[in-house]
Amino acid sequence: MFRAQSSIFKDRNKLSPYYVPKRLPHRDQQISMLLSIYGNMLKNVWDAYPRFTQIVGAAGTGKTCTALKFGEIIVEMAHKEGINLKHIYMNCKVDGTTRYVLFSNLVRKVTQKLSIKSLSPEEMIRQLIEYLRFEEIFLIVTFDEIDYFVQMNPRERVIYDLTRIPEMCPSEPIPIIGEIFIARSLKWHDLLESGEKSTLGIGIIEFPRYTSRQIRDILEDRVEEAFQPGVVLDETLNLISDLTANPPVNGDVRIGLELLYYSGVLAENLGLNRVLPEHVRRVYSEINPTITTEDIMSLDKDGRLILLALVRGLKANRSAYIGLRDLKRFYNIVCEEYSVKPVEDFEEHVQDLIYRGIIDMKSLMEIGISGATLVDLERFLNNLLGRLEA
Ligand SMILES: Nc1ncnc2c1ncn2[C@@H]1O[C@H](COP(=O)(O)OP(=O)(O)OP(=O)(O)O)[C@@H](O)[C@H]1O
Ligand SMILES: [Mg+2]
Repeated sequence: MFRAQSSIFKDRNKLSPYYVPKRLPHRDQQISMLLSIYGNMLKNVWDAYPRFTQIVGAAGTGKTCTALKFGEIIVEMAHKEGINLKHIYMNCKVDGTTRYVLFSNLVRKVTQKLSIKSLSPEEMIRQLIEYLRFEEIFLIVTFDEIDYFVQMNPRERVIYDLTRIPEMCPSEPIPIIGEIFIARSLKWHDLLESGEKSTLGIGIIEFPRYTSRQIRDILEDRVEEAFQPGVVLDETLNLISDLTANPPVNGDVRIGLELLYYSGVLAENLGLNRVLPEHVRRVYSEINPTITTEDIMSLDKDGRLILLALVRGLKANRSAYIGLRDLKRFYNIVCEEYSVKPVEDFEEHVQDLIYRGIIDMKSLMEIGISGATLVDLERFLNNLLGRLEA
């Protein structure tokens, strides 16, 4: 069936959390580290010993997509050298509730030819190694969310099994040349025995949280792939990047992609062909309302007037931020309208609103509201001030 062409989206799948883009901005260093570890092993893969690497970083710092991208690159490098290398990606949350299930899924992902029914987990690994030796296949296996698995099955000693393959299956080659373990932090090490910790080693690659600028670079690529040209304004992208970089989101790009997607859907439903900062604010306020009615009720008259001025200013500029001087200008107009004398310590009042978390200020030129839709807030404030006047 045909779907009418969207004036907002070109390809919304490019915003899906499962899509791995061609380029991963700001993860080059991590990919090069993985390549320098495993790329060198390809030179003498027939007598290589397995290398274990750990990837550690907070939610949405690109651990999974980087591992998948690295897998694609290293497999291609190996093929150029005439080595039959496979990268197997295991997500422990999906592929392994127990060691038995985890290992059977590992075998199944490598080949359908092995019958593993009624084998013990150790036996499965032995058979797998034999199969790989016979077929002359090499593997790098990524175990994602290993922290989850170890927490769920602390007694299964899965790290012990996975790191003792050379002892379990002596002789050469050792076809599993690498294992990559991904976790959000190093806390799962507390659940390991000292023997496991020492064979696992200390090869750790850290994934720092992305800054607002970095998130912008990442999202900019996606905007190009997913949206029609010119639909997402620069201010919109800046606002999403800031919201994503700061607490409570703290750099989780997944949320940034979601904000981008749902803001686009909102604009589309409104029949518009632009995604504006106010769409982002509306979507964000639905996932995380930061300004409550109570917040506004707790403000004094001057605080409310400044907030109203800010809302008007943002709306008039069609922008996510306005400067302090602009804000003051709008404030003076609002005061005139309500026949109120402007406060002398204007800056202090603005500071108070910042401390309350109602407005945010990135610089003197950039003051904005996050977490509320402008339209609703203005109506609410007008109403409030109207009653106040009466
Ligand atoms: N550098 C990047 N370039 C492009 N997209 C990225 C980048 N980093 C993360 N993403 C995207 O952000 C989303 C989250 O990334 P990913 O799933 O890799 O995070 P994670 O670190 O594995 O998080 P979690 O700990 O929650 O599993 C994915 O859709 C991914 O494609
Ligand atoms: Mg992940």
